[in-house]
Parts: sequence; C-alpha cells; structure tokens
Amino acid sequence: MAAAERLGLDVLDAASNDYLGLAAEHAAAVTADAPAGAGASRLVHGTFEAHTALERDLAQWVGMDSALLFTSAYAANVGLLAAVRSPGDHVVSAKLNHASIIDGIRLARAQVTVVDPDDLGSVASALSAPCAGQRWLVVESYYSMDGTSPDLVALRAAASASGAVFIVDEAHALGVFGSDGAGLCSAAAVQPDVLVGGLGKSLGLQGGFVAGSGLLRTWLWNRARSFVFSTASSPALALAGVARVAKVRAMSEERAALLEIAAEFRARVDALPNAQLQAGAHGPIVSLLFGTPERALAAARTFLELGVLVQAIRPPTVPPGASRLRLALKASFSAADRARLLAAVEAACRLS
Ligand SMILES: Cc1ncc(COP(=O)(O)O)c(C=O)c1O
Repeated sequence: MAAAERLGLDVLDAASNDYLGLAAEHAAAVTADAPAGAGASRLVHGTFEAHTALERDLAQWVGMDSALLFTSAYAANVGLLAAVRSPGDHVVSAKLNHASIIDGIRLARAQVTVVDPDDLGSVASALSAPCAGQRWLVVESYYSMDGTSPDLVALRAAASASGAVFIVDEAHALGVFGSDGAGLCSAAAVQPDVLVGGLGKSLGLQGGFVAGSGLLRTWLWNRARSFVFSTASSPALALAGVARVAKVRAMSEERAALLEIAAEFRARVDALPNAQLQAGAHGPIVSLLFGTPERALAAARTFLELGVLVQAIRPPTVPPGASRLRLALKASFSAADRARLLAAVEAACRLS
C-alpha cells in the first residue's frame, strides 16, 4: 500500500522519492528464506551472504570496485566523511549538499569551504588553497530540493587537477538516470573516486552504500563508526535489495517514460503565467518556488484540496525566501494524473 493510501488519503502522491513506484511492492516472495534480523553488527557476527551479494551487485551496477552497505544513506555519508579525514585535510563541499554530508563534515572536524558547484572558478580556487593534507571535493549529482545537476565532467577535471578525491552522492539519481539506471556519473562517463548511493529512493527500500576501491571498503569496515557500531541491515532487506537492483536495472522503459513525463510536465508548467520553476532543473524533481513559507503552505493546501499530496519545503531545508513545493514525478503517473497535477499547479499559482 502506498504512503498516501496508508494515511487514508485518496490522493495522488507527488511527495515521495519513490520515482519508479516500487516502495509499495511486497518483498515477501524474494525474502522468504532470509532472517529478518542480523542480530549483531557486521564485524561481530552480523554479516550474511545477502549483504555481500548486495554489495557486489551495487558495486558492479555503479562501476566501482567494491561497495559497503550502511543502514541508510545518512549513515553512509556520516560514516564515510568522518572516517576518511586526516588532520590538515580540506573539504570543498557544494552549497546544496544534503544534511548527511554536512553532518559528516562536522563530525570529521575538517576545514571546509562551501562552494557553488556551478561556479567552476570558485571551485578551482577553493581546491587550490594551500592544504597540508588531502583535498576532497564533495557534491551531489542530482539535488533533491532543486532538481538540478552540476557539471560532473568539469568537477571531475577540477578535482583531478588539484589532486582532490572526488566524492559524488547519487542518492536521487540512481535508478532514474543513466544506462540501466546507474546514475548521472555513469551517464556522463565520469568516474568518481567515491560514490554514495541510497536504496530508499527509486529502489523503494531502505539503506545506503559507499562504493569505491577495495582499500576504501576495508578502511570503512574498520573505521566508519556508523557502520562499526550499528546492527547490520536486515538480511531480508539485503536480499530484497539484490532483487530490486536487478529489477531497477531492467526498468529502461519506465525510466524513459519518467524522463519524458518530466520534460513534458515542466514545459506545461513553464507556459503558465504565474508559475516560477527552479531554473536549470531537469528530471522528476520539479520545484515550484513560492518564496515565503506561508505562500508555500497555502499552495500545498490547494494541491491537497485538488487531490494531490505535496510537501511545502521551508527553511532550514531551503534558504529563507526559497520556500517551495517540491513535486516528485513518478513513472507510473497516467495522463489523468498529470492533468490533475497540472490543474493543481494552475490553481496554486493563481493564489499568488
Ligand atoms: C543526497 C542525499 N544523500 C543522502 C540522503 C539520506 O538518505 P537515507 O534516507 O537513505 O538516509 C538523502 C535523503 O534524502 C539525500 O537526499
């Protein structure tokens, strides 16, 4: 049962990150033979064949040597960034980076420079600042509040030119972009040094992972505190993950339909008189800017009255003045769903 139905709402769900509509699918058929709980952390006695199989499949999918599974992408980012940092390191972090990246950098107590990843001059200048240790460049490939993407080719080049380790969080891009859904790095033929992904968005499950070299995996296995000191993911969930990765890789038609739906919907919204779309956005995340929290909340209420569930995103998730409705489109949206959504956009924009 989808989230909106569970709330007893007969509404179109344009709020969740379930871009391929998989979250409501039952997993019992593929998890029947797996225990529900791991009983311990991975290092102690909690590693099951399902975990290592999923890690192999995830690494292969995103084109990296190996991967380590975390209980969430939040835990993956926090564990990764705090574990890899050494004294004297300098982290260059994109300004829209997710809270889990920000928290990881805070935990690492690293020197940090926050940059606009689209301003390649500032990125290069931050990366060339004197640094006694290792330089790191951390970005997301698809920003979940804006629906925008940085130029991964240029950022890869900037990282390489300064000897920085290039970390890309693909949580919202996996399953949605790239050949077999492997994400935007894959689509742009960019090889990051470290790729972070999540199972809670288009895969419709729960969990996160860090993919990189075998050495990085071993390091994180021993040093990432959110991994070492936490009960391993449910083996049943990991087994469901194995099936989901295979399924999502094969969903090329749904992916193409999703991107087509998104492009067409965006064009229609753009043609409306009062609609203010996030500039430079693409893909299934459509941000409609309303400015103040009050206007965004009023717009969300209008959507609900017209049978569409969306969330008003307000500070501190977005900067002051940038309150918005964040619409997440789904591959399964029918023509009637899209018409309902557009009618809600029209009505909400008439309010403003
Ligand atoms: C870019 C990014 N990374 C990590 C996360 C955390 O994901 P999870 O829900 O698996 O903890 C999110 C969640 O929204 C995200 O947007």
